[in-house]
Amino acid sequence: MQNVVAIVMAAGKGTRMKSKKSKLVHKIYGKEIITRAVDNVKKAGIEDVVAVVGYQREQIKEVLGSSVKYAIQEEQLGTGHAVMQCKEFLQGKKGRVLILNGDHPIMRPETLKKLVEQSVSKEEAATILTMVHDEIIPYGKIIHDEKGNVKEIVEHKDCNVEQLKIKEVNLGMYCFDIEELLEALDKLDNNNVQNEYYLTDVLKIMYDKGLKTGSIVVSDNAEVLGVNDRMDLQILTKALQIRINTELMKNGVTIEDINNTYIYDDVEIGMDTIIHPNTTIKSGVVIGEDCEIGPNAYIREGCRIADRAKIGSFVEIKKAIIGEGTKVPHLSYMGDCDIGAKTNIGCGTITCNYDGFNKSKTIIGDHSFIGSNTNLIAPVTLGENTFVAAGSTITDDVPSNALAIARQRQINKEGWNKKN
Ligand code: UD1
Ligand code: CA
Repeated sequence: MQNVVAIVMAAGKGTRMKSKKSKLVHKIYGKEIITRAVDNVKKAGIEDVVAVVGYQREQIKEVLGSSVKYAIQEEQLGTGHAVMQCKEFLQGKKGRVLILNGDHPIMRPETLKKLVEQSVSKEEAATILTMVHDEIIPYGKIIHDEKGNVKEIVEHKDCNVEQLKIKEVNLGMYCFDIEELLEALDKLDNNNVQNEYYLTDVLKIMYDKGLKTGSIVVSDNAEVLGVNDRMDLQILTKALQIRINTELMKNGVTIEDINNTYIYDDVEIGMDTIIHPNTTIKSGVVIGEDCEIGPNAYIREGCRIADRAKIGSFVEIKKAIIGEGTKVPHLSYMGDCDIGAKTNIGCGTITCNYDGFNKSKTIIGDHSFIGSNTNLIAPVTLGENTFVAAGSTITDDVPSNALAIARQRQINKEGWNKKN
């Protein structure tokens, strides 16, 4: 989106998390809250992003790196004060600025887009995102005029008894006209219960000036919640889990138990694949069609699983290429490996990929049969159509079409047990 700057507020203390770390570097499905917030803005098509940092800023900078510009807020005097620190990035610019609380990590990018689009199409000086919530939650309350304009946002702690009953609340996502915002920021004061400069007071300032101040009520409350404590972290993880799993099911994947299947962001799974319970699949994994995964499978980063493959129970795989129709049915660890098509990996097979210093690769060709309880000491290459006897410890390459046996011969001592 052109002429749109985004500001992500990430300077606050987040004391309710009770953590040594910044609240914003806590992770949901492997990705920090603040990284999620910034990614959502970028996915909405906004490249120019400023993060306001202050408290524990090194931690935030470490995870965001050079993906954003930084404004420093030395003292946390409120969200309005946070935005004041971004003046140098706004001054002289025309257009819109999207401002977000950094602690709402599972926003849909489309929702942010809608916010900017309405602000432009209806020529509003301020457009805010709201939700209607049946219970009383500690969010700012929205007061409209007869025409539906936002007259004012009253912070939860500043509400009178009547205002506390208002069900429509502020989500901390705003789109402003840049020039009008700069003018309004100059008028902010901290005459409130918390003695903070509230960004939310900008709404009243703009409304009193006669500007248009609109709102959008979100349709899915689960996407817009913020994280203040560990319970919120759990609520949002669950909401994200249901969203991802539902999306996959809509695309033709069978998930037997939506509540006990943990599929991270950006996982591709083909049609008619079945995912059994207690399976975890990390970001970036690609799985083909008609596969069977789980129960109790752990598919880690860098795996690509071709069509009709099976990854069964208590199997962990990492950076594993699994060929078409290949089966790893039970109790195996396959890491840093490239396995061809129609190969069977027996129960208890382990790629010994780590010698304490380096990770090494195991390559197994098509149509091979790895007997149960085999150790594959990497680096090692097995050709096509190989057969490994059960219980082998394979240290040397195996040529195509060969049988490999690498175990002690059995000795039977006749009558020994009767004598003892
Ligand atoms: C804010 C809103 C409230 C809204 C709620 C939604 C204000 C005054 N109130 O309240 O209307 O319902 O979010 O979650 O904005 N931050 C800074 N610097 C500061 C203070 C905060 O960068 O000085 C950042 C925090 O890191 C956080 C965000 O701003 O990412 C929101 O701050 P927080 O203190 O959680 O605001 P709320 O009290 O929840
Ligand atoms: Ca908050």
